[in-house]
Amino acid sequence: MQAAVYTSYGAPDVVTVRDIPTPRPGEKDVLIRVHASTVNRTDCGFRSAEYFISRFWSGLFKPKRQVLGCEFAGVVDSVGSSVTMFKPGDKVFGFNDRTFGGHAEYICQPENSAMDIIPEHLNFEQAAALTEGSHYALNDIYAAHVKAGDHVLVYGATGAIGSAAVQILKYLNAHVTAVCGTAHVDLIKSLGADVVIDYMQQDYTQQGLTFDLVFDAVGKTSFGTCKPVLNEPGIYISTELGKNGQNVWYSIFNAFTGNKKVLFPLPVYDKEMISFIRKIADEKHFTPVLDKTYALKDIREAYAYVETGTKVGNVIIRCI
Ligand SMILES: NC(=O)c1ccc[n+]([C@@H]2O[C@H](COP(=O)([O-])OP(=O)(O)OC[C@H]3O[C@@H](n4cnc5c(N)ncnc54)[C@H](OP(=O)(O)O)[C@@H]3O)[C@@H](O)[C@H]2O)c1
Repeated sequence: MQAAVYTSYGAPDVVTVRDIPTPRPGEKDVLIRVHASTVNRTDCGFRSAEYFISRFWSGLFKPKRQVLGCEFAGVVDSVGSSVTMFKPGDKVFGFNDRTFGGHAEYICQPENSAMDIIPEHLNFEQAAALTEGSHYALNDIYAAHVKAGDHVLVYGATGAIGSAAVQILKYLNAHVTAVCGTAHVDLIKSLGADVVIDYMQQDYTQQGLTFDLVFDAVGKTSFGTCKPVLNEPGIYISTELGKNGQNVWYSIFNAFTGNKKVLFPLPVYDKEMISFIRKIADEKHFTPVLDKTYALKDIREAYAYVETGTKVGNVIIRCI
């Protein structure tokens, strides 16, 4: 099968599309013909190993798993002898940031992994983009124990994480103030945000608004900048480590930051979370925002585009 393979860490050109053996499903595995995947920040992080710490999972000197792609959507091709949850022909989507493998024509997954049936109204591209952004958004929203009526600021609502966070928070009946650039104000309004602040025109800290949670989905703010707009108690979460890893340190020494706290939750993904994502997608509370689509053979261009930091929602890879 054709797959996008990387054998060393580095820039997008470490990835080459070539033939590798098609995986064979074990007794409890499902073989999926991948129709669509994404290139996202998780793939970029593991490919570049920009943060050395990622190598503790992916391999100290070179990648142990050579095909990235943590999101996939496709059709079940065959199943192992003891599989009961899926059958050939099922349209499925899923997430796997441990073994990856979505940037290929086929992927093999254990049946009990984070995988589910695609909601009927979604196509393969939309289904492929259901999980990565929502995964980070959900982990952080759960960690902050957001409840109905809470006021939440989503800073950087345009990315995969931010656009998922706005929709999930609205599903939870939070009051959402979203911050984005001028070009994306209408898009973010259409996702349901109650208030949209264009950071190119207005300063979100000077609007007389305060929040129970500030969720920086693009890692461009700091706890210090956001502290004045946090309620007491209030929580600050960023998707980035912050200068000198400060978000991690603050979260460890929370006892010293009073009633305004920084959390840095470690993301987890399981079948339960994917069922929740499927449910809110099925009920049309969550639709992933899609940007450009690339063929698998052009995956280097997709990586380069994602790394410009200007993607809107999700970048799709067609694998068929
Ligand atoms: N290392 C990892 O494994 C990993 C995994 C997942 C995510 N992350 C981090 O999570 C963050 C979000 O990733 P993502 O994929 O959701 O989104 P993304 O691709 O980083 O988001 C791009 C969007 O962010 C907005 N943006 C750029 N600069 C901004 C600024 N100064 N203020 C506000 N918005 C700005 C832009 O929209 P506008 O034009 O509307 O501003 C742009 O379209 C990234 O920092 C990423 O590194 C890391």
